[in-house]
Amino acid sequence: MKELIKELTEAYGPSGDEANIGNIIFEKIKPFADYISFDKMGNLIARKVGPNDKIMLSAHMDEIGVIVTSIDENGFLRFSNIGGLSPFTLIGERVLFKNGTIGVFGKEKLDNIKDLKFNKMYIDIGVSSKEEALEKVNIGDAASFYRICDMSSNYIISKSLDNRVGCAILIQVLKQLKQTKYDTYFVFTVQEEVGLRGAKTAAFGINPDLAISVDVTPTGDTPEAPKKAIDLSKGPAIKIIDRSIICHPKVREQLITAAKQRNIPYQLEVTETGGTDVGAIHVTRAGIPSGGISIPCRYIHTSSEMVHLKDIKRSVDLLLAVLQD
Ligand code: CO
Ligand code: ZN
Repeated sequence: MKELIKELTEAYGPSGDEANIGNIIFEKIKPFADYISFDKMGNLIARKVGPNDKIMLSAHMDEIGVIVTSIDENGFLRFSNIGGLSPFTLIGERVLFKNGTIGVFGKEKLDNIKDLKFNKMYIDIGVSSKEEALEKVNIGDAASFYRICDMSSNYIISKSLDNRVGCAILIQVLKQLKQTKYDTYFVFTVQEEVGLRGAKTAAFGINPDLAISVDVTPTGDTPEAPKKAIDLSKGPAIKIIDRSIICHPKVREQLITAAKQRNIPYQLEVTETGGTDVGAIHVTRAGIPSGGISIPCRYIHTSSEMVHLKDIKRSVDLLLAVLQD
């Protein structure tokens, strides 16, 4: 599991440019799926055939990043954000472009650091002219954080644990699933970070009877953190509400019952900001009863997010219980 998470988190795949991470996941799950394909949007959909209702399990495979908006005469790149990024998390960080080009963020002189905005920042890719820069990158090229994943303990630190950790969980569930009572669709969605876009079209295409998304959620267990009843390592959080969904009571209860029956420690998630794929899925067509499993995660949307291995393993157990019991 640790090796899988390392490989997935270090892979390139900002929203709108997910082919690389999609192909990596495709190769890993191909032997375990009855049917597997990419849809027109780029969502990767693997199906494990079962007898009853259709269930859609989703995890977004895109990650936050930046996109080049202009290049100046000296070869410095101006950029815009892809997804929810704070300029304060970027200083000193490096980014990776798809072709392997590495850049570092810099900022203009500011009298007050509070004035830091994306338009006061630039990316330096180590060139001295616009012509030289254009040999490596162009307007519209996207980049994501460049960081290794630290695996030295059960606390995993990496970029893009949002939401490659969710992808790793779905991969593991598919691998371990012998048979399932549902006709099960594993969906690795695109463009979640820019507005739940891939999940929306995937849900329309699949037309499931119920849906569960796996994604990360902020914890309340760090010094002076906003009050929130979610701690790292205390188990997967069963989603009650976020800004995109009030989870269907039936799905919520099903998850809680499954956790209790298998003695899996769990938490309940009430999140006041943000949302995830099920926010788009549950309002598809005539409505789809939906719920979520959230992995407690510190420092979300920075280059060093943190999760606990125990929460990941228990999330796999919980999903297997839902599909099999
Ligand atoms: Co996110
Ligand atoms: Zn996410």
